[in-house]
Order: sequence, then structure tokens, then C-alpha cells
Amino acid sequence: MLKTKTIIIYESIYGNTKKVADAIAEGIRESGQVECSVAKTGEVHHTDDLAGYDAILFGCPNHNQEPARNMLKFIERASIVDLEEKMGAAFDTYTGGNRGIALGKLEEAIAQRMPCVKFVIEGFSAKVEDRKGPLTEGELQRANEFGRQVAEKLLDR
Ligand SMILES: Cc1cc2nc3c(=O)[nH]c(=O)nc-3n(C[C@H](O)[C@H](O)[C@H](O)COP(=O)(O)O)c2cc1C
Repeated sequence: MLKTKTIIIYESIYGNTKKVADAIAEGIRESGQVECSVAKTGEVHHTDDLAGYDAILFGCPNHNQEPARNMLKFIERASIVDLEEKMGAAFDTYTGGNRGIALGKLEEAIAQRMPCVKFVIEGFSAKVEDRKGPLTEGELQRANEFGRQVAEKLLDR
């Protein structure tokens, strides 16, 4: 049986969102039936390559209460590719009391610019203690659990 193929596209300045992306990828792979690769926005040179995936996850930090600019630019670049329907999910990282704010706007941007992406799960928001990190204790375990739940949702479909 062909494995479901997933890619996580992330943006990160200080490495915390990358750690979250890697922990989600581990959770997804632990299902045993879903492949998952991880790439930073700037590493995806040809957005047409996204056609080869069944599901796309997007994750980035909150920068001034918005999704990080490089992620929005990536979505803009990807929006010009004519993709078939994809399963999807999003996540962000934040400080203080800003849980989910960039995430909500990221989901809106994806819905507007890449309507081929259908969200299979409520997005995930991970807290960092300060601008440079570290991630608040327990967030990587939660990210791993989120990845497991994503895999379950993907396999349900
Ligand atoms: C320019 C800049 C603006 C930021 N603005 C916010 C903000 O408005 N709200 C917030 O919760 N975090 C803010 N942060 C903190 C980031 O969310 C934090 O640096 C990020 O989650 C760390 O992820 P990274 O290690 O992947 O870069 C800001 C960080 C930077 C660099």
C-alpha cells in the first residue's frame, strides 16, 4: 500500500518553531503509515513539488501578531501553483498571552490563497518563554501528540 505523503513547511528565526516542526513530524511518522518530510520555507525552491504530497502542514512564529513574513511570502508563491485538493494543518509559536493569534491569521491566509488545502484538525500553538526561546516545558510532547493526531486524521480519510 502506498504511504500517505506529508510535508511540513516551517519558518523559524531562533530554531524553536523548527523544533516544534520536527516533533510534529516524529509524531506523524510514529503512526508507521505516513511519511513526513520537513522543509524551511526558503528550502522549497519549486512550489510545484507540493503536488507530490497528500498533506501540507504550515508552521511559523508570531511576529508582531502576524504570521512570520517569510511564511506569508511562501503561501503567496505556492498560491500560483494549480494543486489538487490537499489535506492540511497549521501551527504557530508565540510568547506571553498570544496563543493562537498568528495561527488564526495563518489559517486565514491559507484558506484565501490556497483553497485547495482542507484543514483536517484544529491548529496547534506552542509557547516559548522569551523571544529566543526556550520552548515552555511540555510543548514538544504536545507537538508530538499533535503529530500523532494529524496522522490519525489523515489515515481516516
Ligand atoms: C520581530 C519579532 C516580533 C515578535 N512579535 C511577537 C508578538 O507580537 N507576539 C508574540 O507572541 N511573540 C512575538 N515574537 C516572539 C516570537 O513569537 C518568538 O521569537 C518565536 O516564537 C520563536 O520562534 P523561532 O525560534 O522559531 O524564531 C516576536 C519575535 C520577533 C523576532
